[in-house]
Amino acid sequence: MNLLTPWQQRCERLLRDYWQQRPIEPALKAAMIYATTNGGKRFRPALTWLVGEALGLPQEQLDPAALAIELVHCYSLVHDDLPAMDDDDLRRGQPTVHIKFDEATAILAGDALLTEAMELLSHAELPADIRLRQLQLLSHAAGSQGMVAGQMMDMAATGQSMTLDALILLHELKTGALIRAALLLGAAPSQDYPSLEKPLGRLGLTLGLAFQVQDDILEAEGAQTGKSADSDARNGKNTFPALLGLDAARDYRDELIQQCHLLLNELPLRSPALRQVIDFVAERRH
Ligand code: IPE
Ligand code: IPE
Ligand code: MG
Ligand code: MG
Repeated sequence: MNLLTPWQQRCERLLRDYWQQRPIEPALKAAMIYATTNGGKRFRPALTWLVGEALGLPQEQLDPAALAIELVHCYSLVHDDLPAMDDDDLRRGQPTVHIKFDEATAILAGDALLTEAMELLSHAELPADIRLRQLQLLSHAAGSQGMVAGQMMDMAATGQSMTLDALILLHELKTGALIRAALLLGAAPSQDYPSLEKPLGRLGLTLGLAFQVQDDILEAEGAQTGKSADSDARNGKNTFPALLGLDAARDYRDELIQQCHLLLNELPLRSPALRQVIDFVAERRH
């Protein structure tokens, strides 16, 4: 049991209930279920719920947003693993979706998870202005202004050298944008949202950058992550350990974690759990 466990359990239950009641073409549904119920950490939904908790919002109010961001994240992994992208066979300790099913199914399941997330969120039982805010946050973070732009930079720069600033921007987009959105989605129903948006967004981007630096470090260390051990090296990816060396990458990660704590200090959120989550990002081993 760790601090994510209750949120993981909540996420698993919501996903199970959601898939049970949702009629979907069977072959597509099988791949969507496989991609979303295969043991993810549920880090992003946990962030959404934790921010809501710190603001005194009821958990149920944030269920659609938490579910939606996890669906978008799972879609991003399915496409990230495709042969045309990172070409990976293993995810969360199991065959990737295109290996378990086939490439066309993986592409379509990813497409469907992304649109499912937006549809689900559009039906959330929240005032229309809050729903719209959440839809704007999630779609902005997922697409050409966020994750997909980061993935494009990642692909375009493969095998080429990059400056530190460019690599920071790439990581902020491909991973930071969704983690920023996870935090902001949790604050979206609050009447204090306008004053929280900027500082909470900065925390999210910094935390997301730290999360991806640690992802790169774990792979460079050969940690047992349930993913292909040699993906970055095989693909000639730009990573912090590749650019700075492993020790400097660890120092940089720790510096980012310190920054996150300072950014949290500036927020009106007294949440020991959020502090622990920040530390978890550096300490995580998978
Ligand atoms: C993996 O994310 C992809 C990155 C953005 C680094 P997670 O480490 O959150 O993956 P799961 O959901 O736990 O498998
Ligand atoms: C994943 O990036 C970020 C996404 C947008 C999916 P990576 O390719 O570095 O992550 P892993 O190591 O495959 O999870
Ligand atoms: Mg990738
Ligand atoms: Mg990858």
